[in-house]
Amino acid sequence: MDFSSLLHEKAQFTELLLQRLLAEQADIDENLREALEYVLIAPGKRVRSALVLWCCELIGGEINRSAEIAAAAIEMVHTYSLVHDDLPAMDDDDLRRGRPTCHKVFGEATAILTGDALLTLAFEVIAKRVDEPSTAVRLIGQLAEAAGPAGMVAGQIADLRAERTDGTVETLERIHTNKTAKMFRCAAVMGGICGGAEEWQLRCLREYGLKIGLGFQIADDILDVNAPSEQLGKTAGKDARASKCTYPAVVGLEKAKQLERELADEAVASLKPLGREADILRELAAALLERTK
Ligand code: IPE
Ligand code: IPE
Ligand code: MG
Ligand code: MG
Ligand code: MG
Repeated sequence: MDFSSLLHEKAQFTELLLQRLLAEQADIDENLREALEYVLIAPGKRVRSALVLWCCELIGGEINRSAEIAAAAIEMVHTYSLVHDDLPAMDDDDLRRGRPTCHKVFGEATAILTGDALLTLAFEVIAKRVDEPSTAVRLIGQLAEAAGPAGMVAGQIADLRAERTDGTVETLERIHTNKTAKMFRCAAVMGGICGGAEEWQLRCLREYGLKIGLGFQIADDILDVNAPSEQLGKTAGKDARASKCTYPAVVGLEKAKQLERELADEAVASLKPLGREADILRELAAALLERTK
Protein backbone atom coordinates (compact mmCIF):
# COMPACT_ATOMS: atom_id res chain seq x y z
CA MET A 1 0.00 0.00 0.00
CA ASP A 2 1.35 3.48 -0.76
CA PHE A 3 1.87 6.04 1.98
CA SER A 4 -1.22 8.14 1.34
CA SER A 5 -3.45 5.01 1.47
CA LEU A 6 -1.80 4.01 4.75
CA LEU A 7 -2.47 7.45 6.22
CA HIS A 8 -6.01 7.37 4.89
CA GLU A 9 -6.60 4.01 6.54
CA LYS A 10 -5.35 5.34 9.89
CA ALA A 11 -7.48 8.48 9.53
CA GLN A 12 -10.59 6.40 8.90
CA PHE A 13 -9.80 4.21 11.88
CA THR A 14 -9.42 7.23 14.16
CA GLU A 15 -12.59 8.82 12.88
CA LEU A 16 -14.64 5.67 13.58
CA LEU A 17 -13.11 5.40 17.02
CA LEU A 18 -13.93 9.04 17.81
CA GLN A 19 -17.48 8.45 16.64
CA ARG A 20 -17.80 5.41 18.90
CA LEU A 21 -16.24 7.09 21.94
CA LEU A 22 -18.62 10.01 21.57
CA ALA A 23 -21.64 7.74 21.10
CA GLU A 24 -20.73 5.80 24.27
CA GLN A 25 -20.50 9.00 26.30
CA ALA A 26 -23.79 9.36 28.19
CA ASP A 27 -25.61 12.45 29.45
CA ILE A 28 -24.31 14.98 26.96
CA ASP A 29 -26.64 17.89 26.22
CA GLU A 30 -28.11 17.38 22.72
CA ASN A 31 -26.95 20.72 21.34
CA LEU A 32 -23.46 20.17 22.72
CA ARG A 33 -23.38 16.64 21.27
CA GLU A 34 -24.31 18.03 17.87
CA ALA A 35 -21.48 20.56 18.08
CA LEU A 36 -19.01 17.90 19.25
CA GLU A 37 -19.92 15.64 16.32
CA TYR A 38 -19.75 18.57 13.93
CA VAL A 39 -16.16 19.44 14.82
CA LEU A 40 -14.80 15.99 15.63
CA ILE A 41 -16.29 13.91 12.82
CA ALA A 42 -15.00 16.28 10.15
CA PRO A 43 -12.41 15.80 7.41
CA GLY A 44 -9.24 16.46 9.42
CA LYS A 45 -5.98 14.94 8.21
CA ARG A 46 -5.50 13.04 11.53
CA VAL A 47 -1.72 13.28 11.31
CA ARG A 48 -1.15 13.41 15.08
CA SER A 49 -3.26 10.33 15.76
CA ALA A 50 -1.55 8.41 12.92
CA LEU A 51 1.77 9.32 14.50
CA VAL A 52 0.68 7.83 17.84
CA LEU A 53 -0.42 4.59 16.15
CA TRP A 54 2.71 4.22 14.02
CA CYS A 55 5.08 4.93 16.89
CA CYS A 56 3.38 2.28 19.01
CA GLU A 57 3.57 -0.20 16.16
CA LEU A 58 7.21 0.41 15.38
CA ILE A 59 8.26 0.06 19.03
CA GLY A 60 5.93 -2.69 20.22
CA GLY A 61 5.27 -4.56 16.97
CA GLU A 62 1.51 -3.93 17.00
CA ILE A 63 -1.09 -1.28 17.77
CA ASN A 64 -2.65 -1.87 21.17
CA ARG A 65 -5.73 -0.52 22.93
CA SER A 66 -3.76 2.13 24.84
CA ALA A 67 -2.38 3.57 21.61
CA GLU A 68 -5.84 3.69 20.07
CA ILE A 69 -7.14 5.65 23.05
CA ALA A 70 -4.11 7.95 23.05
CA ALA A 71 -4.64 8.57 19.32
CA ALA A 72 -8.28 9.53 19.89
CA ALA A 73 -7.32 11.70 22.86
CA ILE A 74 -4.73 13.75 21.01
CA GLU A 75 -7.18 14.28 18.16
CA MET A 76 -9.72 15.60 20.71
CA VAL A 77 -7.20 18.04 22.16
CA HIS A 78 -6.10 19.13 18.69
CA THR A 79 -9.70 19.68 17.60
CA TYR A 80 -10.39 21.74 20.74
CA SER A 81 -7.39 23.90 19.85
CA LEU A 82 -8.80 24.52 16.37
CA VAL A 83 -12.28 25.44 17.67
CA HIS A 84 -10.80 27.98 20.07
CA ASP A 85 -8.16 29.19 17.55
CA ASP A 86 -11.01 30.13 15.18
CA LEU A 87 -12.97 32.16 17.74
CA PRO A 88 -13.44 35.91 17.08
CA ALA A 89 -11.20 36.74 20.06
CA MET A 90 -8.40 34.68 18.52
CA ASP A 91 -7.96 34.24 14.73
CA ASP A 92 -11.58 35.03 13.90
CA ASP A 93 -12.02 32.45 11.14
CA ASP A 94 -15.17 31.42 9.27
CA LEU A 95 -13.97 28.24 7.59
CA ARG A 96 -12.46 25.06 9.05
CA ARG A 97 -12.04 21.62 7.50
CA GLY A 98 -14.11 22.87 4.56
CA ARG A 99 -17.07 23.89 6.71
CA PRO A 100 -18.26 26.97 8.58
CA THR A 101 -16.44 27.20 11.91
CA CYS A 102 -18.04 25.93 15.11
CA HIS A 103 -18.92 29.39 16.45
CA LYS A 104 -20.51 30.34 13.10
CA VAL A 105 -22.89 27.40 13.31
CA PHE A 106 -23.50 27.05 17.05
CA GLY A 107 -22.61 30.48 18.46
CA GLU A 108 -19.60 31.59 20.43
CA ALA A 109 -20.63 30.34 23.85
CA THR A 110 -21.30 26.83 22.56
CA ALA A 111 -18.01 26.87 20.63
CA ILE A 112 -16.08 27.77 23.79
CA LEU A 113 -17.85 24.99 25.69
CA THR A 114 -17.34 22.51 22.83
CA GLY A 115 -13.60 23.16 23.12
CA ASP A 116 -13.75 22.77 26.90
CA ALA A 117 -15.66 19.49 26.50
CA LEU A 118 -13.12 18.07 24.03
CA LEU A 119 -10.16 19.02 26.20
CA THR A 120 -11.59 17.37 29.30
CA LEU A 121 -13.01 14.34 27.46
CA ALA A 122 -9.53 13.57 26.15
CA PHE A 123 -8.26 13.06 29.69
CA GLU A 124 -11.38 11.18 30.77
CA VAL A 125 -11.00 8.58 28.02
CA ILE A 126 -7.34 7.99 28.88
CA ALA A 127 -8.04 7.74 32.61
CA LYS A 128 -10.96 5.34 32.16
CA ARG A 129 -10.01 3.29 29.10
CA VAL A 130 -6.27 2.72 29.30
CA ASP A 131 -6.02 -0.47 31.36
CA GLU A 132 -2.56 -0.12 32.87
CA PRO A 133 -2.75 2.72 35.46
CA SER A 134 0.93 3.64 35.18
CA THR A 135 0.61 3.93 31.36
CA ALA A 136 -2.50 6.09 31.76
CA VAL A 137 -0.73 8.44 34.18
CA ARG A 138 2.26 8.80 31.84
CA LEU A 139 0.01 9.55 28.86
CA ILE A 140 -2.00 12.08 30.83
CA GLY A 141 1.20 13.79 31.97
CA GLN A 142 2.58 14.01 28.42
CA LEU A 143 -0.65 15.29 26.88
CA ALA A 144 -1.27 17.86 29.63
CA GLU A 145 2.29 19.15 29.33
CA ALA A 146 2.10 19.48 25.53
CA ALA A 147 -1.30 21.19 25.49
CA GLY A 148 -0.88 23.30 28.61
CA PRO A 149 0.64 26.61 29.73
CA ALA A 150 4.20 25.60 28.80
CA GLY A 151 3.05 24.08 25.51
CA MET A 152 0.27 24.88 23.08
CA VAL A 153 -1.35 27.53 25.27
CA ALA A 154 2.01 29.29 25.59
CA GLY A 155 2.37 29.21 21.81
CA GLN A 156 -1.12 30.49 21.17
CA ILE A 157 -0.76 33.44 23.53
CA ALA A 158 2.65 34.34 22.06
CA ASP A 159 1.19 34.00 18.54
CA LEU A 160 -1.51 36.55 19.34
CA ARG A 161 0.93 38.87 21.04
CA ALA A 162 3.26 38.75 18.02
CA GLU A 163 0.60 40.10 15.62
CA ARG A 164 1.71 43.34 13.99
CA THR A 165 5.30 42.97 15.26
CA ASP A 166 8.52 42.32 13.34
CA GLY A 167 9.34 38.98 14.89
CA THR A 168 12.78 37.44 14.80
CA VAL A 169 13.37 33.86 13.69
CA GLU A 170 14.10 33.02 17.33
CA THR A 171 10.71 34.31 18.52
CA LEU A 172 9.00 32.55 15.67
CA GLU A 173 10.71 29.25 16.38
CA ARG A 174 9.60 29.51 20.02
CA ILE A 175 5.99 30.28 19.05
CA HIS A 176 5.75 27.47 16.50
CA THR A 177 7.50 24.98 18.76
CA ASN A 178 5.05 25.69 21.53
CA LYS A 179 1.81 25.99 19.60
CA THR A 180 2.35 23.05 17.25
CA ALA A 181 5.59 21.09 17.55
CA LYS A 182 5.11 20.01 21.17
CA MET A 183 1.83 18.30 20.25
CA PHE A 184 3.63 16.35 17.53
CA ARG A 185 6.38 15.43 19.98
CA CYS A 186 3.70 14.32 22.40
CA ALA A 187 2.02 12.14 19.75
CA ALA A 188 5.30 10.36 19.01
CA VAL A 189 6.12 9.90 22.70
CA MET A 190 2.64 8.66 23.61
CA GLY A 191 2.89 6.07 20.83
CA GLY A 192 6.29 5.02 22.14
CA ILE A 193 5.01 4.75 25.71
CA CYS A 194 2.11 2.55 24.58
CA GLY A 195 4.54 0.33 22.66
CA GLY A 196 6.75 -0.08 25.75
CA ALA A 197 9.66 2.05 24.52
CA GLU A 198 12.93 2.25 26.39
CA GLU A 199 14.40 5.65 27.27
CA TRP A 200 16.75 5.79 24.25
CA GLN A 201 13.87 4.99 21.90
CA LEU A 202 11.72 7.72 23.47
CA ARG A 203 14.58 10.19 22.96
CA CYS A 204 14.64 9.42 19.21
CA LEU A 205 10.87 9.76 18.94
CA ARG A 206 10.85 13.00 20.94
CA GLU A 207 13.37 14.61 18.64
CA TYR A 208 11.68 13.34 15.50
CA GLY A 209 8.26 14.60 16.67
CA LEU A 210 9.51 18.07 17.55
CA LYS A 211 11.29 18.46 14.19
CA ILE A 212 8.38 17.36 12.01
CA GLY A 213 6.02 19.41 14.18
CA LEU A 214 7.99 22.60 13.61
CA GLY A 215 8.18 21.76 9.91
CA PHE A 216 4.42 21.15 9.90
CA GLN A 217 3.68 24.66 11.20
CA ILE A 218 6.13 26.24 8.73
CA ALA A 219 4.27 24.38 5.95
CA ASP A 220 0.98 25.67 7.39
CA ASP A 221 2.32 29.24 7.13
CA ILE A 222 3.52 28.63 3.56
CA LEU A 223 0.22 27.09 2.48
CA ASP A 224 -1.66 30.07 3.91
CA VAL A 225 0.22 32.19 1.34
CA ASN A 226 0.35 29.71 -1.54
CA ALA A 227 -2.87 27.69 -1.63
CA PRO A 228 -6.50 28.66 -2.23
CA SER A 229 -9.17 28.36 0.49
CA GLU A 230 -11.01 25.57 -1.38
CA GLN A 231 -7.87 23.45 -1.28
CA LEU A 232 -7.06 24.21 2.37
CA GLY A 233 -10.58 23.97 3.74
CA LYS A 234 -9.77 27.15 5.68
CA THR A 235 -9.43 30.79 4.72
CA ALA A 236 -6.24 31.40 2.74
CA GLY A 237 -4.27 34.62 3.01
CA LYS A 238 -5.50 35.06 6.55
CA ASP A 239 -2.08 35.41 8.17
CA ALA A 240 -1.04 38.41 6.08
CA ARG A 241 -4.41 40.11 6.64
CA ALA A 242 -4.10 39.62 10.40
CA SER A 243 -0.41 40.69 10.29
CA LYS A 244 0.62 37.39 11.84
CA CYS A 245 4.23 36.71 12.58
CA THR A 246 4.94 33.76 10.22
CA TYR A 247 7.96 32.20 8.52
CA PRO A 248 7.08 33.59 5.06
CA ALA A 249 6.61 37.04 6.61
CA VAL A 250 9.88 36.99 8.55
CA VAL A 251 12.30 35.04 6.34
CA GLY A 252 10.47 34.88 2.98
CA LEU A 253 8.92 31.92 1.15
CA GLU A 254 12.10 30.42 -0.27
CA LYS A 255 13.96 30.41 3.03
CA ALA A 256 10.85 29.06 4.80
CA LYS A 257 10.73 26.13 2.36
CA GLN A 258 14.42 25.51 2.84
CA LEU A 259 14.01 25.45 6.64
CA GLU A 260 11.13 23.00 6.27
CA ARG A 261 13.34 20.67 4.20
CA GLU A 262 16.18 20.93 6.72
CA LEU A 263 13.84 20.03 9.56
CA ALA A 264 12.57 16.98 7.65
CA ASP A 265 16.19 15.86 7.15
CA GLU A 266 16.97 16.38 10.83
CA ALA A 267 13.82 14.49 11.80
CA VAL A 268 14.85 11.55 9.63
CA ALA A 269 18.39 11.66 11.04
CA SER A 270 17.05 11.30 14.57
CA LEU A 271 15.43 7.97 13.57
CA LYS A 272 18.75 6.32 12.71
CA PRO A 273 19.06 4.24 15.91
CA LEU A 274 15.55 2.86 15.35
CA GLY A 275 16.52 1.14 12.09
CA ARG A 276 14.24 0.05 9.26
CA GLU A 277 11.27 -0.42 11.62
CA ALA A 278 10.95 3.38 11.53
CA ASP A 279 10.57 3.62 7.73
CA ILE A 280 6.94 4.69 8.00
CA LEU A 281 8.10 7.78 9.95
CA ARG A 282 10.66 8.53 7.23
CA GLU A 283 7.84 8.37 4.69
CA LEU A 284 5.72 10.64 6.87
CA ALA A 285 8.49 13.25 7.02
CA ALA A 286 8.79 13.16 3.22
CA ALA A 287 5.02 13.27 2.68
CA LEU A 288 4.60 16.31 4.93
CA LEU A 289 7.00 18.23 2.66
CA GLU A 290 4.66 17.58 -0.25
CA ARG A 291 1.38 18.28 1.50
CA THR A 292 -1.08 20.55 -0.27
CA LYS A 293 -3.59 21.12 2.57
C1 IPE B 1 -3.96 22.89 11.76
O1 IPE B 1 -3.63 21.55 11.98
C2 IPE B 1 -3.41 23.73 12.85
C3 IPE B 1 -1.96 23.64 12.98
C4 IPE B 1 -1.36 23.36 14.08
C5 IPE B 1 -1.11 23.94 11.83
P1 IPE B 1 -3.91 20.45 10.86
O2 IPE B 1 -3.38 20.93 9.54
O3 IPE B 1 -3.42 19.14 11.34
O4 IPE B 1 -5.51 20.46 10.79
P2 IPE B 1 -6.54 19.28 10.48
O5 IPE B 1 -6.64 18.47 11.72
O6 IPE B 1 -6.00 18.49 9.32
O7 IPE B 1 -7.82 19.98 10.16
C1 IPE C 1 -2.82 27.18 15.06
O1 IPE C 1 -2.00 27.86 14.16
C2 IPE C 1 -2.11 26.35 15.96
C3 IPE C 1 -3.01 25.75 16.97
C4 IPE C 1 -2.51 25.39 18.09
C5 IPE C 1 -4.43 25.56 16.74
P1 IPE C 1 -2.83 28.59 13.02
O2 IPE C 1 -3.71 29.63 13.59
O3 IPE C 1 -1.88 28.97 11.95
O4 IPE C 1 -3.73 27.36 12.49
P2 IPE C 1 -4.78 27.50 11.31
O5 IPE C 1 -4.02 28.01 10.11
O6 IPE C 1 -5.84 28.43 11.79
O7 IPE C 1 -5.24 26.08 11.11
MG1 MG D 1 -3.78 30.79 15.31
MG1 MG E 1 -5.74 30.06 12.99
MG1 MG F 1 -2.19 28.75 9.88
